[in-house]
Amino acid sequence: MLNQLSLKIGLLFFVVVITVEIILFSILYTNLVNDRVDEVMGDLLARGNTHRDVLEENYTSSTLNHVAIMESESDFIVVITDRNGEVVTSSNPMEPKMAAVIEHTDNDQVPDEGVILESDWADEKYVATDSPIIMEGTHSGHVFMFVDSNHIKEIISSLTRQFLFIGLVTVILTIITVIVLSKVITQPLVRMKKATEALSRGNHEVELSTSRKDELGELATAITRLSNDLKRLKNERNEFLSNVSHELRTPLTYLKGYTDIINRETTSEEDRARYTKIIQEETEHLAGLIKTLFELAKIDQNEFAIKKEKVEFDALIQKIVERIYPAIEEREIEFSYSCPSNVVISIDPERIQQVLLNILDNAIKYTRRGNHVRLEVVQTKHEVLTVISDTGDGIAEEDMPYIFERLYRAEKSRSRSKGGSGLGLTIAKEIVELHNGRMEVESELGEGTVFNISLPKEDAYEKGIVD
Ligand SMILES: Nc1ncnc2c1ncn2[C@@H]1O[C@H](COP(=O)(O)OP(=O)(O)OP(=O)(O)O)[C@@H](O)[C@H]1O
Ligand SMILES: [Mg+2]
Repeated sequence: MLNQLSLKIGLLFFVVVITVEIILFSILYTNLVNDRVDEVMGDLLARGNTHRDVLEENYTSSTLNHVAIMESESDFIVVITDRNGEVVTSSNPMEPKMAAVIEHTDNDQVPDEGVILESDWADEKYVATDSPIIMEGTHSGHVFMFVDSNHIKEIISSLTRQFLFIGLVTVILTIITVIVLSKVITQPLVRMKKATEALSRGNHEVELSTSRKDELGELATAITRLSNDLKRLKNERNEFLSNVSHELRTPLTYLKGYTDIINRETTSEEDRARYTKIIQEETEHLAGLIKTLFELAKIDQNEFAIKKEKVEFDALIQKIVERIYPAIEEREIEFSYSCPSNVVISIDPERIQQVLLNILDNAIKYTRRGNHVRLEVVQTKHEVLTVISDTGDGIAEEDMPYIFERLYRAEKSRSRSKGGSGLGLTIAKEIVELHNGRMEVESELGEGTVFNISLPKEDAYEKGIVD
């Protein structure tokens, strides 16, 4: 529970917001309290000054009485003294606390505009002001004003009640906002967590809303893409495994069949020799297939070694042409090639030979008698481009995206009449890419196919090579 993200985010928000609110409210509260106290003190002094002004104008016993009577009906208390400090009149009965304030006042220190004598409303019973009466330039008495500290305390406690109420409302609103906010933020995350858990359990049907335009939306899109990729990989793996088992089973069936025939006593020597040859061919095919699968597995684990050396490309081409000549002659295909003689390139000759043989083998295999296969090497400043074209069967548009995939053959029946297993182009492309080269293909069904293999010449391109 405590580890829930929504709770953590919520608590964090709450603590931060409440701290900020407490600080702001405290500042506001203190300022307001000070203002109210200043206001009361200012009023008290102004009232005393008014009485003083009246008395300065008309210092008679009736005026003195009038002032005392006026204040006896208000919250304020007035005490008027003469120049000797003796109380002349007061609105309320004198109390010792008031007398103490009056006694402690140093009359000579009081400025003409009056002074606040006591403002400690928290500890003292009264707060007080003094307004001196000056007649004909001399001190003629004092107007002391008092107000009960409880009067100020009431004002402040009403202010405090208002603040407590507003504070409570703010805390409740903050809690609601924090809960809603943290849910809004964490809900999509919780949904994505559930989706990834389902993914790891093998359920690839992830349904996440990807309509959000923020980081959470991007994350949901990434998870959806990941689940689709996983689904595709799983399908590909199943298909690959069933293709591999098919490819292995077929030659094994042949081997078993022909071994049975050879072992029959009735089989003639001549047939035996023929079948042994077939068994040999099938074994070679099987060994080749397993070797290629093994090489692909090594490429997947980045353990496929490329041993580069400087190679004269035309010599390599010459060697390849010699190797394919018997097949060309057998299939009665026209073949031509051209290669400039000064091409030197840093490659793994065995592997590149394997690439070119694979592609030429395809060109010969998928081209009918009398058609043309051409190999042409052109060099540019940075790369050597080998173009192998044929006027053969071509590749259907729907097959084009898949021909480099493992065990993919356009001929779905996987008949063995053309002998392929669908690994040739996969390994060829991987090898070219390990040389930092590119392999591209253009083809039209019934018209022919063109493979372009470009290999970089310079060492600057040789990053990432396993040596
Ligand atoms: N020059 C070509 N003309 C027509 N189709 C081609 C050509 N090259 C490749 N293809 C198609 O692409 C598929 C894949 O080629 P790839 O070389 O990978 O496999 P393969 O030739 O069937 O088998 P392998 O090369 O492993 O013996 C082929 O089965 C074929 O359908
Ligand atoms: Mg092939």
